[in-house]
Amino acid sequence: MVWHMRCGYAMLSLVMWRILWGFIGGYWSRFSSFVSTPRQAWQFARQSLAQTSRIAGHNPLGAWSVLAMLSCLGLQALTGLFSDDEISTSGPLTALVSQAWVERATQWHTGPGKWGLIALVVLHLGSIFWYVRVRRIDLLNPMRTGDQILENPARESTDTIATRILAAVLLLLCASAVGLSVGSGSL
Ligand code: HEM
Repeated sequence: MVWHMRCGYAMLSLVMWRILWGFIGGYWSRFSSFVSTPRQAWQFARQSLAQTSRIAGHNPLGAWSVLAMLSCLGLQALTGLFSDDEISTSGPLTALVSQAWVERATQWHTGPGKWGLIALVVLHLGSIFWYVRVRRIDLLNPMRTGDQILENPARESTDTIATRILAAVLLLLCASAVGLSVGSGSL
């Protein structure tokens, strides 16, 4: 459980970082460049079987999966802070809320939160398999390197030493904020 909680703090820091980066990061990382309406996502899903060209950034359906992943991971890590197994382990912030909220947080953390995340992971891996094997579109290398070859010109993202240092400093600040909130004794 000690490592479970440490991994949870790392996850919370990463989710915080990614949300902030969605406002100040490179063009294609910003929420404004990819967040879509449900209608756009539905239209994309319907056309997606016929479409073979690649697009830069997240597609309208992928955008919803990013938002779902960030919300579920964030909520899972946050509810963990208030969870209590009533045997040996409790989250570091349980004393701040009533017993009723601890029970609600624990129920979410061990029930819908857990199963929702498992479903998202399966969906994520399934989509990668579908793109790579069925549609022959390589998603993994663009995800890993941040670069991809496109048929049509697309706007460049900003990726310089300065933006990378900014990203690292921001991550350090998020990790420090999580560390300070849970208290150094919990790490
Ligand atoms: C995204 C990060 C996290 C994930 C994916 C996660 C996942 C899980 C899972 C799958 C369980 C077991 C549920 C079961 O028994 O079926 C669990 C239990 C638990 N987690 Fe987390 N957790 C995360 C973060 C945290 C954090 C940050 C804390 C506290 C600092 C925490 C504290 C606990 C506690 C106390 C339990 C035991 C609850 C019980 O058995 O009633 N978790 N977590």
